[in-house]
Amino acid sequence: MAILIIGATGNIGRHLVDTLLESRQQLLLGVREPEKARATWKHHASYIHFDFSEPETFEPAVGAVERCFFIAPHDDPVPSVELFLQHAKHLKQLTFSSGRTTGGVEGKPLHTIEQRIWDSFIPATILRPGWFMQNFTGWIGDDIREERKIILPAGDAKTAFIDVRDIAEVAALTLIHGGHTGHTYELVSDEAFDHYQVAEMISRAIGEKVEYQPMGPLDYIKRMMKKGWSRDVAEHTVELYRLVMEGREEETTADVEDILERKPRRLQDFIEEYKEALK
Ligand SMILES: NC(=O)c1ccc[n+]([C@@H]2O[C@H](COP(=O)([O-])OP(=O)(O)OC[C@H]3O[C@@H](n4cnc5c(N)ncnc54)[C@H](OP(=O)(O)O)[C@@H]3O)[C@@H](O)[C@H]2O)c1
Repeated sequence: MAILIIGATGNIGRHLVDTLLESRQQLLLGVREPEKARATWKHHASYIHFDFSEPETFEPAVGAVERCFFIAPHDDPVPSVELFLQHAKHLKQLTFSSGRTTGGVEGKPLHTIEQRIWDSFIPATILRPGWFMQNFTGWIGDDIREERKIILPAGDAKTAFIDVRDIAEVAALTLIHGGHTGHTYELVSDEAFDHYQVAEMISRAIGEKVEYQPMGPLDYIKRMMKKGWSRDVAEHTVELYRLVMEGREEETTADVEDILERKPRRLQDFIEEYKEALK
């Protein structure tokens, strides 16, 4: 029976799909635009229309499988995920990718979703990844490429980052092999860096000076709104970095190494591998 992947076109999902296809798993990708996804990808996977804001898409997708991976939708995720779980009671394995700190903060949507999953008694595994290394080539990368700067409201706090490929590999194992049900894994690399150190690493890799410029929350919100972000997204991002500043993303864990039986990917190697995307 196929494994349903929701969020298949995203950062984690893309790598998860590749990893599972390499293991010859049959996949059903729940996407908002199946035609577009089918045209973009040459994967040997099936596609089905799935949208958290369209409850009528839940049953045809999750009813067809026994194992499922999902991430939460961005806007007001709790009600739609609660409804989704009603259709998922038959699953033999549900893997949810949450967030490292917000997953553990009472009142935050990812935390509420984690609680709803455990309350549902569906056999589940929860992944709590730290900040993605891929953010530096993604949304933070514009400032690096255009201004040779990292501008964030992160002060001098340290973060243990994670390569999304490691999240995907862990997720794949939870879906293919038993033994992970009932566990919550904190997925980070085995080192933590502040953003001055990250800027230094990128400078060395691209051969040009990249500077880290810490910014206060209000200035950051104003800056990102000028760049086109909504106030909600800018404020949410500042809130996430407030948790970083409290040191909640600094501690490393051994979860990736314990599960994958190898060291986690490291930031320096990621930067070296993707340096062209940072120029
Ligand atoms: N970035 C970080 O550093 C970080 C760190 C820890 C945790 N996280 C968490 O990781 C999650 C994001 O994961 P990601 O980066 O892999 O995803 P992503 O790249 O942001 O992509 C979002 C995915 O969700 C799908 N999606 C969006 N709205 C949907 C809806 N209404 N119904 C069904 N699918 C929908 C999108 O599909 P379409 O193709 O249809 O658009 C896309 O595949 C978030 O929960 C975030 O809080 C992020």
